[in-house]
Amino acid sequence: MSTTNQHGYQDFKLGSFSFRRDEYFAHISWTTKAGKPMSHTMDAANFLRALMRDVAWGFFYGWVNFDNVIGTVNHYQSVDLYAGSYNGTMKEAGIDLLENFPTEEIRSTFAAILDDWTNEGFDPFAAPLETGSPHGRKHGNNTARITRARELAKRCVGLKDDLALRTDERGAPVNRAFADVPQEQPELHPEPGFENEVHAFNLFGFLSRSQVTWNPSFTSVVKHSYMCPTTEEHILPIIHGNDRVEWFFQMTDEIHWDCGDKNTGKPLARVIMKAGDMAAMPAYCRHQGYSPKRSMLLVWENGSPSLVYEIQNGLSPEVPVQF
Ligand code: PHB
Ligand code: FE
Repeated sequence: MSTTNQHGYQDFKLGSFSFRRDEYFAHISWTTKAGKPMSHTMDAANFLRALMRDVAWGFFYGWVNFDNVIGTVNHYQSVDLYAGSYNGTMKEAGIDLLENFPTEEIRSTFAAILDDWTNEGFDPFAAPLETGSPHGRKHGNNTARITRARELAKRCVGLKDDLALRTDERGAPVNRAFADVPQEQPELHPEPGFENEVHAFNLFGFLSRSQVTWNPSFTSVVKHSYMCPTTEEHILPIIHGNDRVEWFFQMTDEIHWDCGDKNTGKPLARVIMKAGDMAAMPAYCRHQGYSPKRSMLLVWENGSPSLVYEIQNGLSPEVPVQF
């Protein structure tokens, strides 16, 4: 159920949470167990960028913190929505609220908020310097940009029968930050009879033409090993809380990471990653990256559906290596 407010936006409700937008802000409100009315405010740009990721990634692995107050936890059949439950201070004060929803219910509500609150000219997937303002009274929409569909490649991109096109084949322009990335394709010399089995393409060239930021949009899948090279500029719009170990390989330029305790947000580490550096994020942390210039990052995920339960039961470690 939703109604249109004086700023032209619809108000939404999900369980005991209310969502309201005005010209600058998203306002989330809830009532504590003791009956105290609470509210939280986010800039509309930050809220919509986080919401875009949560919807597009199907609630991702574990925690998607929109900021230090609100966010979601993926339980893979259902999703928790919370305010303050993973903020040490708010939790201790008892002013938090967490409610669980069937995935489809929260997904459709979030998709409706995203669509109604995104104005014409604002692309929540684009870097701030490459899109318009999200602010003001409701004007138009940007449904095409917020419903980009994943294209599934059946084989290595470029092999016969594969349906996906390389970014250069689709005519996507090279991003201004990657003007120096060579665009030549590799030479291929397969043995006779193997022309349809062997292939290669220029991954850096492919990524240099990516239109989006902070989105593992191009992925190779081998069993449960997901290699997700991405292009990153400005701030990761969510603070990701891991439910498993995740690896980062900084392929170009640099990203600065703030890492904190997954449950409370207490700061744990700053990780400055430069081209060629690798790091692993343990399953007990949350992290948010800052990329001063558009950079290329490879995120490596273990997509095993049983891993999170193995970690909970002590059968798998929370860290990648024990020294
Ligand atoms: C992460 O949460 O680890 C993450 C998400 C999206 C990216 C990069 C890293 O583009
Ligand atoms: Fe992460």
